[in-house]
Amino acid sequence: MADDYSHILLTGARGRLGTELVGLMPGIRATDVDDFDVTNQASMEAAIARQRPRCIVHAAAYTDVAGAEKDRLACWRLNVEGTRNVAILCEDRGIQLVHISTDYVFDGTTGDYREDDPLGPVRNYYALTKLVAEAVARVAPEHLVIRTSFRPRQWPYEMAVTDAFTSQDTIDVIAPEIALAIGRFEAIPYQTLHIATERKSVYDLARRSRPDVRPGRRADLPVQLPADTSLSIDRWRALKESW
Ligand SMILES: NC(=O)c1ccc[n+]([C@@H]2O[C@H](COP(=O)([O-])OP(=O)(O)OC[C@H]3O[C@@H](n4cnc5c(N)ncnc54)[C@H](OP(=O)(O)O)[C@@H]3O)[C@@H](O)[C@H]2O)c1
Repeated sequence: MADDYSHILLTGARGRLGTELVGLMPGIRATDVDDFDVTNQASMEAAIARQRPRCIVHAAAYTDVAGAEKDRLACWRLNVEGTRNVAILCEDRGIQLVHISTDYVFDGTTGDYREDDPLGPVRNYYALTKLVAEAVARVAPEHLVIRTSFRPRQWPYEMAVTDAFTSQDTIDVIAPEIALAIGRFEAIPYQTLHIATERKSVYDLARRSRPDVRPGRRADLPVQLPADTSLSIDRWRALKESW
């Protein structure tokens, strides 16, 4: 019999990651801002009363990194206050929480960050809100913070930098791994997990889906890109091997 995920409520289901998870997890209760607005208590209460989930996967977020610098309040409200609302709901109702976080919570200088490494200092306001969001997500007694990073299936730019390193991958590679972790929530004896792939340059990643991409340097970009945001995935690898 196919797996059934109808005990799980997903926030931000129309987003990049949310859309993939909906396709991968039959029965998952897909919600977005119109039926589970994480900044609106009444909207959340109504959805919980209807759906009675045992687990919430919180993928809704303000993800426009440049936009966050201009509209800090909107970013804080969604990423910090929204996550706090979800976490308190989970605490009150005994619901498991899977919170989706980012490699940007690290400073991005040395790379190969392990789950227990110190966070920050962050590079931008989006990253700051995601760092605080992790802390508030931990209010939920049964929680798992998944740090990850992903790109679209096809590299969208003509250029990619050779001097920035990452363990991110395309969404079609990352989303099934996240779906696997969500489905195995109870078999994961940690509260933080990195889900990514091997360390590589952004250029090497881009070339996989766009072989003619032009190599560039970080200094050519209009935005400051950290040198190495790669995550150690030893924990996730060992877990999967044990299953
Ligand atoms: N994209 C990346 O490269 C990346 C990297 C690392 C980590 N992450 C994390 O992965 C998660 C998913 O990211 P994503 O790129 O899939 O995000 P996304 O595409 O920006 O989707 C976010 C979703 O949240 C919804 N939303 C907005 N306001 C809401 C509210 N008040 N209540 C409920 N939902 C609301 C959005 O709806 P509307 O579109 O209608 O506003 C959208 O469907 C986030 O936690 C993000 O921080 C992303």
